[in-house]
Amino acid sequence: EMSPEERAFQDRIDADIKIEPKEWMPEAYRKTLIRQISQHAHSEIIGMQPEGNWITRAPTLERKAILLAKVQDEAGHGLYLYCAAETLGVSRDELLEQLNSGKAKYSSIFNYPTLTWADIGAIGWLVDGAAIMNQVPLQRCSYGPYSRAMIRICKEESFHQRQGYDAMTKLARGTPEQKQMAQDALNRWWWPSLMMFGPSDAESVHSAQSMRWKIKINSNDELRQKFVDQTVPQAEYLGLTVPDPDLKWNAERGHYDFGAIDWDEFYQVIAGNGPCNRQRLRTRVKAYEEGQWVRDAADAYAAKKAARAHG
Ligand code: ACO
Repeated sequence: EMSPEERAFQDRIDADIKIEPKEWMPEAYRKTLIRQISQHAHSEIIGMQPEGNWITRAPTLERKAILLAKVQDEAGHGLYLYCAAETLGVSRDELLEQLNSGKAKYSSIFNYPTLTWADIGAIGWLVDGAAIMNQVPLQRCSYGPYSRAMIRICKEESFHQRQGYDAMTKLARGTPEQKQMAQDALNRWWWPSLMMFGPSDAESVHSAQSMRWKIKINSNDELRQKFVDQTVPQAEYLGLTVPDPDLKWNAERGHYDFGAIDWDEFYQVIAGNGPCNRQRLRTRVKAYEEGQWVRDAADAYAAKKAARAHG
């Protein structure tokens, strides 16, 4: 049974009125938002690593400049999202502590290695493509600061997706070896990209309540299906083969049918046992420790400035 306060809150959500930071909200709504927004922020920050791996080895100056800008955008996305989470009464230090200690989740996808340059194209095309599919509807999320952060993030993500598809096009139309590299990257990134959308609706513990609160707009399976439907023709255009023998257009449903996802692999990765989980966390903690002097200097400068203003 809902309390009168909760009833009024739900009515506002049903009427598409945004909830703002200082307003009353159920504790569980606040907690769910902190969980989702902080996991999202951590994903952006950890997501800098697999691509950062190729900045020094990008094949041309132009590709290097693009990749550098994209990785910086991801840092920016992390910052807007941490700010949005902070409006819910959690501190950034607390969130970073959860990430650095390995307690917090971040997207499964960033625990896979980037073995060749083609992986950078595949990440832009598939991973950023999946991210946009999930984040465009979140622009309509009920929580004001999160929905507004999503508007800018989605604009930048679509540039990321386009640059990835452009890099894949170049490889797919290149030498046979380059085309093979593109195919190999598609083979390795396809299934992990489908896993990004989260467990099937039947297994998704948070979906029902999050959708009632409009913290989520679509279910995991809905978005996954939309992603497959959008991406398969793009692979065909590139002349590449999606690594799924069960993939088939279903005219009756008006959607592609696709093969079974290896959920054991997904749950292993989110439990910390993916191919790169330990490396990602080690790199993150090292960067945090090595940046301590910068934070100390900024604090010392702020304290000096404040003392001068009062003196
Ligand atoms: N990777 C890691 N963990 C995941 C993933 C994934 N791909 N999918 C689901 N999970 C986790 C959930 O966080 C949840 O864990 P928790 O209870 O410990 O917090 C658990 O699996 C159960 O899943 P759901 O009940 O389906 O969880 P939820 O309703 O939060 O849905 C989803 C997951 C779709 C990822 C949602 O949180 C979301 O839309 N988040 C915002 C977008 C986002 O974070 N994108 C990050 C990648 S995009 C990028 O950074 C480029």
